[in-house]
Amino acid sequence: MKKNKVGILITGLSGSGKTTIAEKISIDIQHYFKIDCDVIDGDLIRKKYPVVLGFSKEDRFLNIKNISNLAKDSLTKGKIPICATIAPYIEMRNILRTSIQSTATFVMVYLKTPIEVCESRDVKGLYKKARKGKIKNFTGISDIYEIPLNPQLTFDTSIHEISFISNKIIEFITNVTYYND
Ligand code: ADX
Repeated sequence: MKKNKVGILITGLSGSGKTTIAEKISIDIQHYFKIDCDVIDGDLIRKKYPVVLGFSKEDRFLNIKNISNLAKDSLTKGKIPICATIAPYIEMRNILRTSIQSTATFVMVYLKTPIEVCESRDVKGLYKKARKGKIKNFTGISDIYEIPLNPQLTFDTSIHEISFISNKIIEFITNVTYYND
């Protein structure tokens, strides 16, 4: 990889595979390019801030602003931020895009894993609770997820293997960083 910087957003529904992909590409980027990554996981970030953020539209926007600042810090330190977050509104993704694009190339990866698959995985049992109405404003069930209009890459983790997806992302960022140099 040339010296050009890159920041990555992985967006998709809960259970679509964002964290798994983020961890995998973090390892692969370090392996192939010897560059450290910061995996910035939305659900962890919201719990760390002075006030724990919820899932109202307002809180989700505060969450993405925090994520954007962390992504910027990560780039300043010469690392690659990999943001794994639902970011359900186009405007939210644009906030992150603007923040990353001030110093780096922004790459959006959309995991379009069908909701039926995400729900069948239900790793944290949250879909079940959302269906019963025990969790309000649950993305994909009782809250909006605006389909990304212009992702650089799109994958369905119910079709493709994690290693296939990671390889495609590595290939893509190699090309963008090369051609933008
Ligand atoms: S975001 O909307 O603010 O971008 P974020 O990616 O940080 O969301 O967190 C999503 C994770 O929070 C989900 O994977 C899920 O485990 C959990 N979660 C809990 N409540 C909700 C909810 N109402 N909507 C979506 N995800 C929720």
